[in-house]
Amino acid sequence: MRIAMIGSGYVGLVSGACLADFGHQVTCIDKDAQKISALRAGEIPIFEPGLDQLVVSNVQADRLSFSTELAEPVAAADVVFIAVGTPSRRGDGHADLSYVHAAAREIAQSIKGFTVIVTKSTVPVGTGDEVERIIREENPEADFAVVSNPEFLREGAAIEDFKHPDRIVIGIEDERAREVMTEVYRPLYLNQAPLLFTSRRTSELIKYAANAFLAMKITFINEMADLCENVNANVQDVARGIGLDKRIGPKFLNAGPGYGGSCFPKDTLALVKTAQDYGAPTRLIETTVAINDQRKRAMARKAVLAAGGDIRGKTIGVLGLTFKPNTDDMRDAPSIAIIQGLQDAGATVRAFDPEGMKHARGLINDVVYTSDPYDCAEGVDALVIVTEWNAFRALDFTRLKSIMKAPILIDLRNIYRQEEIARYGFSYTAVGRPG
Ligand code: UGA
Repeated sequence: MRIAMIGSGYVGLVSGACLADFGHQVTCIDKDAQKISALRAGEIPIFEPGLDQLVVSNVQADRLSFSTELAEPVAAADVVFIAVGTPSRRGDGHADLSYVHAAAREIAQSIKGFTVIVTKSTVPVGTGDEVERIIREENPEADFAVVSNPEFLREGAAIEDFKHPDRIVIGIEDERAREVMTEVYRPLYLNQAPLLFTSRRTSELIKYAANAFLAMKITFINEMADLCENVNANVQDVARGIGLDKRIGPKFLNAGPGYGGSCFPKDTLALVKTAQDYGAPTRLIETTVAINDQRKRAMARKAVLAAGGDIRGKTIGVLGLTFKPNTDDMRDAPSIAIIQGLQDAGATVRAFDPEGMKHARGLINDVVYTSDPYDCAEGVDALVIVTEWNAFRALDFTRLKSIMKAPILIDLRNIYRQEEIARYGFSYTAVGRPG
């Protein structure tokens, strides 16, 4: 199949490279000329494990190419994916669809022969109808079907998720698209990954419902963690105790500083807005959003308390800035609000992150950015783990104790245990467990 991928950001690039790896002929398109020339030179603009090799090998095999112009690849394509950004619209929290609409307008000018247009971007219910209307308006002769095919990739594990999905959701209104989409995903289908065909609107909603449910699950365990702290119980055991029930499942029950990233915060908010607009408010999700917002500042207060209650003039070290490990993504990272809270309480902050420092520098001011965990801990009155990078899982506590002003560890990801840390003379604070 010939595939044109409009948008070479995170989703477009990962999906394009994986589809090329399946044997399809893929062109990834982006208006950003610098990005495209970097990609042509084999430079990957984002940090995603395995992506550089996948891109390079498929470029070498002549299955993957890059372009700033969509006319030619779209004219040649059997399938055109729209994978452009849908950020939160300033002011009202709705998804900003201007890039999707612009892409639809441009595609309309170039399609030739029957073409399946797929929205891969996360888009609110009804967007497929709009894309269809725009293309028909722009080019009344065009022969096309608009499909919804949301992605469920996790940053840091995106390639694995693409190649071994729990399911592939495809929303269609035109039966001709069923066969084409089955062909696109044939290698996965042959590997028994369920292809779930639904109506287009249902498919659009599935994406939001999945992210909202996961965000709610995390928020639930975060509230349980707070309760555990007050009743002297252990949230990790609670998570295990409920997660072994197959109806609940063990995943996404890790208590922490609140969810962040480019998806959950934006998608939960957009779902809340859509639901309000359609007169069916989703109060569980509204509450989830509010609790998660408050949680980040609450984590700063927790750190302040663990560091003695008054941190004016003190220095706090922060390990981990990205919203989760194995990414350089800083979007809506809990670290931003936590550091702000520590600074507001009067502390100087030193920080280290294996991949996130470049983006962090532009986002969080007045922080001393350091070169490794030990440089970060130099002279600090307390150390806070905010992101669970592997590099922080086996720290040398003897060394840390010798360089820190006070041996205080606040572990917001529960990666250590009280007994192992106490041995080194550290005071230890975790989330939702006594130690
Ligand atoms: C999320 C979904 O997991 C993907 O399925 C979806 O495709 C993607 O959004 C998207 O819509 O594009 P992602 O944002 O990459 O993926 O990251 P997650 O691994 O889901 O983590 C999100 C946040 O939840 C992180 O801040 C993480 O630390 C937090 N989290 C996750 C917890 O606090 N506890 C957990 O148990 C799991």
